[in-house]
Amino acid sequence: MSALSAHVLEEIKELPARFPQPRSAVMPALDLAQEELGHLTPEAMSEVAEALELDPGYVEGVATFYSLFHLSPVGKHHFYICTNLSCSIKGSGDIVERFKQAAGVGEPDAVSADGLFSYQEVECLGACEFAPMLRLDQRYHYDLTPEKVGALVAERRGLLPIHGEVPAKPAEGLVAKKTRAPRKKKADA
Ligand code: FES
Repeated sequence: MSALSAHVLEEIKELPARFPQPRSAVMPALDLAQEELGHLTPEAMSEVAEALELDPGYVEGVATFYSLFHLSPVGKHHFYICTNLSCSIKGSGDIVERFKQAAGVGEPDAVSADGLFSYQEVECLGACEFAPMLRLDQRYHYDLTPEKVGALVAERRGLLPIHGEVPAKPAEGLVAKKTRAPRKKKADA
């Protein structure tokens, strides 16, 4: 039995045609796999490699290099909180602490008891002018305050309606440590 659904495998097989270099499809393909399973299992990585006709070692190498791919289970809503220089100066430490308190998560990559939340501290996500910021559920949230982070958690618990967010295409948030992503336009978070 496949780890990935037939529908996702079909989507992955269609990806190479969209890129000048077919192997460039590996990141959006892994993103699709992770979106379906929550994290990348060895079986899922093998199926991605087979679907893209790539060497399994190459696919695994990409998955292990980028900090936004998970090789073990994370919460349903995983917060990527930027703690690089600009965000740090603008108070990312308070953002992390407020998230931990609101979500009931004690440390990076731990999962809350209800399975809903986890987080990691990441390097610059390329939106320094809107610091502090984070990425959550394929979207960026800018100009954060501890209150906004508390609201993001409450919204995911269904305690508040989810409002305006800035979508990030699946592969855009895949940022390696010490690597900058394209800048995003500002929008209300
Ligand atoms: S330092 Fe946080 S987005 Fe650049």
